[in-house]
Amino acid sequence: MFEALTPGRDDPIIALMLAFREDDRPDKVDLGVGIYRDADGHTPVMEAIREAELRLAEDQKTKAYTALTGDPAFATAIRDLTLGNAVAPERVAFAGTPGGSGALRQAYELIASLAPDATIWLPTPSWPNHAAVLAYLKRPVRPYRYYDAATGLLDREGMLADLAKVPKGDVVLLHGCCHNPSGADPSPDDWIAIAETFNETGALPLIDLAYQGFGDGIEADVAGLRTLARKVPELLLCVSGSKTFGLYRDRAGVLLAVAPDANRQKLLQQALTTLNRNNYSFPPDHAGRLVTNVLTDAGLRQEWASELDQMRNRINGLRRSFAEELRRATNSDRFDGIATQKGMFSLLPLTADQIDRLRQDHGIYILGDGRINIAGLSDESIPRVASSITLTSR
Ligand code: LMR
Repeated sequence: MFEALTPGRDDPIIALMLAFREDDRPDKVDLGVGIYRDADGHTPVMEAIREAELRLAEDQKTKAYTALTGDPAFATAIRDLTLGNAVAPERVAFAGTPGGSGALRQAYELIASLAPDATIWLPTPSWPNHAAVLAYLKRPVRPYRYYDAATGLLDREGMLADLAKVPKGDVVLLHGCCHNPSGADPSPDDWIAIAETFNETGALPLIDLAYQGFGDGIEADVAGLRTLARKVPELLLCVSGSKTFGLYRDRAGVLLAVAPDANRQKLLQQALTTLNRNNYSFPPDHAGRLVTNVLTDAGLRQEWASELDQMRNRINGLRRSFAEELRRATNSDRFDGIATQKGMFSLLPLTADQIDRLRQDHGIYILGDGRINIAGLSDESIPRVASSITLTSR
């Protein structure tokens, strides 16, 4: 059987992460994989999570199975955190999943089972694994305009024009906040316009929400999502706890599926339960339970929110410093967008050759499309990264 194997294609983000680990230069800089780093380059366990973990170790009486869709308390806590009161709880079905990627996978499979011909529309650009998993599942995919590289902003006109043409029954994937890879997010007004196009076309919104709290704030980052959720009859929301709770390897995720009414919600809940059973039976519980315990304990929740605020403030400070340093070093305003883009990522306007030279000659790791993880910078590395970019531009 295994003689049929041929070399596969590596995921660009994971390949870069591994290449960085192999590099033994002491001053190497990792701007690749999207994980938060503190000023020392560490990805800390959040204190609120650590405390919840200690309490859980003391209090947990059993590791027996929960439910096929995971502990309902986790889904409820995430539903309240993300959707707030934008939709009635009895309209929301859920499935606990292994991380946000698991939620996306279950969403794609749900769509495939209900509407095998539905095309999934992806923003240009998007997280590379969106397209990769859809290709693996042989799902029809089309792009819509999203980012304007010339301005570093959302291409509002292009996006709305493309979304207006999406046929009824197709699915449009949107990043809930902190667009990966561009950091260019819709404004509150843009979200209203987006919601209107969904109402006009009858397309289904599929939201990938992986960076809540890293843009403008925990509530502010989901204001657009809530605007949309208030206006549309159906919506799929894939939530990741990896970044927002620092639980990367522990895989806390949930798929929330909003139905038009309580009757349809029951059918949806049944479908998601079967989908979990068919794919992996019970979802992981531990990380979701930590999230639930943090969100439902006033003290832990406050601590978590303030840790997340600090992370966001650090990233936004780095954004401003890096943009200023690049303006000074390159004597141009081509990088100014970095200061105001949202979340961990920005796209640098660099050529493939420059990106190679930054890695080979300067030990600076940037994804092939120019995406950088701002959290990988530090006050110490910013001048060197900026001057290396200037050097490779010549
Ligand atoms: C990223 O975009 O770097 C993260 O979401 C990690 C991943 O799995 O790709």
